[in-house]
Amino acid sequence: MNALIRAHSGLRYVVLGLLIAAVVIAYSNWQNNKQGDSKVYLFALIATHTQLLIGLVLYTMSPLVNFGEISNKVIRFYSIEHVFMMVIAIILITVGRVRSKKLAGADKHRTVLYFYAMGLIIILAAIPWPFRNLGAAWF
Ligand code: HEM
Repeated sequence: MNALIRAHSGLRYVVLGLLIAAVVIAYSNWQNNKQGDSKVYLFALIATHTQLLIGLVLYTMSPLVNFGEISNKVIRFYSIEHVFMMVIAIILITVGRVRSKKLAGADKHRTVLYFYAMGLIIILAAIPWPFRNLGAAWF
């Protein structure tokens, strides 16, 4: 369980890095009317889905997920807010990827840009950053 938390915690930076790279590349490809796909779109999706899988396992094991103590701020964050926002973000990113596969040229990259950027913003808001006093650290 501890190793899974460490992996889940560290992977946030991989997810954020790849999502930011994907958004920047998508904007540039859109503006330059580039054809073809970018592997970074796929890697960002894979990293996000890996986080989803680890998160689901943690959700079944973590003492911080406990609906009997939902009035506690930290318990509520992990039991409801974190998982709910992350799942919405991951759905948006997945929809963006699937839709973009059916499109070409500027339309493809614009679709990735919009959906991935929305997902990125939600993920940034749902991470238990240390300054939010939810008991989690930077790593
Ligand atoms: C991109 C998506 C996600 C990111 C970036 C992310 C990030 C994080 C971070 C940084 C922590 C704090 C780890 C620590 O204490 O150092 C955490 C904890 C946790 N996450 Fe996620 N998460 C994501 C998705 C999910 C999902 C989808 C679920 C559930 C289905 C989930 C379930 C949990 C649980 C249960 C904990 C608390 C573990 C514990 O300390 O006992 N996460 N997450």
